[in-house]
Amino acid sequence: MPFSEDFLNELSRRNDIVDVVSSYVPLTKRSGANRFGLCPFHGEKTPSFSVNGERQIFHCFGCGKGGNVINFIMEIENLSFPDAVQFLARRAGMEVPQDDFDPNRGKRSRLLELNREAARFFRARLLEPAGAPAQAYVEKRGIVPMVNRFGLGYAPDSWQALTDAMVKKGYTRQELVDAGLARVGKSGGLYDYFRGRLMFPVIDVRGSVIGFSGRILSDGEPKYLNSPDTLVYSKSRSLFALNLAKKSKSGYILLAEGNIDVVSLHQAGFDSAVASLGTSLTSDQARLMSRYTQQVIICYDADDAGRKAAQRAIGILQPLDLKINVVQIPGAKDPDEFIQAKGPTAFKNLIERSGNQAEYRLEQTAGEYDLTTDEGRVGYLKAAAKLVASFPGSVEREIYGIRAAEKAGVSKEAFLAEVARIRRQNTAAARKKLARDTASPLRAAQPQDRSLRFENVGSAVAEEGVLNLLCRFPEQFSDLSLTGADFTSPALGALYDAVAARVRQGRSVSPAALGEQFSPEEMRLLARILQHDEIDAVTAQQAMGDYINKIRSEKDRASPVDDLRGYAEKLKQTKGYGS
Ligand code: UTP
Ligand code: MN
Repeated sequence: MPFSEDFLNELSRRNDIVDVVSSYVPLTKRSGANRFGLCPFHGEKTPSFSVNGERQIFHCFGCGKGGNVINFIMEIENLSFPDAVQFLARRAGMEVPQDDFDPNRGKRSRLLELNREAARFFRARLLEPAGAPAQAYVEKRGIVPMVNRFGLGYAPDSWQALTDAMVKKGYTRQELVDAGLARVGKSGGLYDYFRGRLMFPVIDVRGSVIGFSGRILSDGEPKYLNSPDTLVYSKSRSLFALNLAKKSKSGYILLAEGNIDVVSLHQAGFDSAVASLGTSLTSDQARLMSRYTQQVIICYDADDAGRKAAQRAIGILQPLDLKINVVQIPGAKDPDEFIQAKGPTAFKNLIERSGNQAEYRLEQTAGEYDLTTDEGRVGYLKAAAKLVASFPGSVEREIYGIRAAEKAGVSKEAFLAEVARIRRQNTAAARKKLARDTASPLRAAQPQDRSLRFENVGSAVAEEGVLNLLCRFPEQFSDLSLTGADFTSPALGALYDAVAARVRQGRSVSPAALGEQFSPEEMRLLARILQHDEIDAVTAQQAMGDYINKIRSEKDRASPVDDLRGYAEKLKQTKGYGS
C-alpha cells in the first residue's frame, strides 16, 4: 500500500467533499444528506450532480461519474491518483509522507528518461546522411524550419535500431516494452514499434517527452502510428503541442485535427495550435485546454468528417464555459494545405472571420435544408428552434432566434414561441428523468456502453443491495457465505469480493479509504450504489437475507458459465475491473 489508510482517512477528513466540490460547483439544492448542482463533467441545465456529505461521495445521475473526494479531484483537475492526493494534501496544509508518495515514481521517471533518450536518438537519425528519406519528406511538406522547435526525428526502417541503442544505454527490455517503444516478437525477441517514420515527440506541459506519433513517409497504412497508453502517457488526457501553445500570447487555442496541421500553423506564426493524437476530442482534453485559455478556435478539416468532429467538439467544450469559434476552410482540405497554398495572412483572415459556435451550428443546420421550398423552411425552422432552445443564455437565444427566424422567413415572435415551447418540454423531460433515476438505482446504473450492461437486472438490484448494506453496516455482515462468483454481474461480483475481504480483515470500507485499491470505474459504481439509504440498521439483516435469496435463485437459472467468463474478461480488458 503506497499510502497508508490512516493517512488517506485523515486526508479525507480534512478535505470535506462538500467544501471541495463547492469550490468548483455551486450546490444549490438540498434533499436529505444530498446536495445537488449542475454537473461539471457534462452539459446539463437541471442539476443531477449530487454530493453526499454523510458518506463523503459524489455521484452524477446524468453521466454516471462518481466516487470519493480524491476521485473528484482526479476528474476535475485531470490528475493521477497520487497527484490528486498531493493536491488535496496541499489544500489542507498536510505533509504527504514522502515514503508513501507514488509507488511508480521511480519507474515513471525511468520511462520519461527513456523517452527523452529515444527522442534524441530519432533526432540524430534525421540529421545524419542516412536520414535522407525523412529529410526529403520534411522538405516536401515545407516544414524544415520547425524540425528543432518540435524536436522532429526519424525512426529508421530497421527492426532493432532503437532497441539496440537503448539497451546499450542501460535500459531493460521490459522498460522498452513498457514505454511502448518496442514489442515482443513471436520468437521472443524485441522489435522496434516505430520503423521508417517521421517522428513527432509528444511533450507534456512540464516538458517531459511522454509519447510519440510517427508518420509514414509514403502512402502505406497506417498513416500515423501513435504510442500506446503507458504509465506516463494517456492519449485521452494529452494534447500535441500544448507545451508550446501554453506559452502563446494569442489569447486563444487553435484546435486542429492533424499533426502536420499543427506544425504548419506554428510555422505560419499561429503558436497556439494543438491537436489530439489518434483520438477524437475528450472532455479531459477540453478541461486541459480550459486551464490555459478562455477561447478555443476549432480548425478541423473541411470535409464531412471534420464538420461532424467540430459539432462533437463543440458539445464537449461547451460545458466548460469557453468561448468557441469555428474556422471554415475554403478551397483546401485542411489548415496545412490552406496555409501552404494561400499563406499565413489569408489564414489570419479566416480566424478573424470565424463564426462563434452558435453561428456555425445555425449555418450548418441551414445547409441541411432547401430554404427555397416551404417544406425545407419548415424542416429548418424545427431544427433551428431546437438548436436555439439548447443555448443556455436568454440573450443568445433572442439574438440567434431573430436571425434564424429571418432565414426561415417567419416572424421572430413565432420562432421564439417555438423555442420557449421546446424549452418547457426539455425541462419537464429532464425532471422526469431525474425522478426516475433517483428512484431506480439500476436505471441510472446501466453503463452508457451497451456491451457492459448488466445481463440480469433483477439479480443486479439485489447485488447492489448487498454491496450497499455491506459498506454501510460492515459490523453486521462480517461473515457472509456469499461470494462474487454467485453474482450475475462480474463487475459487481469483483467489487463484492474486494469489499467483503476488507470487512473480514476488519479494515475500513468507507469510500474515503477505498480509492487507492479500487479503480475510478469501481469507485463510480460504488458511489452510485451508496446513494441509497432507504434501509436502516434495524432492517438491514432482513433485507440482506432477501437479497441473498434473490441472488441464489437467479444464479440457479443463470446463463452458462462460459458466457460469464467471456463477459468478465471483456470487462477486465475494457475497464480495468478486477485488476
Ligand atoms: P489526417 O490524415 O487528417 O492527418 O489525420 P494530417 O496531419 O492532415 O496528415 P497529412 O497532412 O496527410 O500528413 C488527422 C490526425 O488523425 C490521427 C493523427 O493524429 C493525424 O494527425 N491519425 C490519422 C492517426 O492517429 N492514425 C492514422 O492512421 C491517421
Ligand atoms: Mn493534412
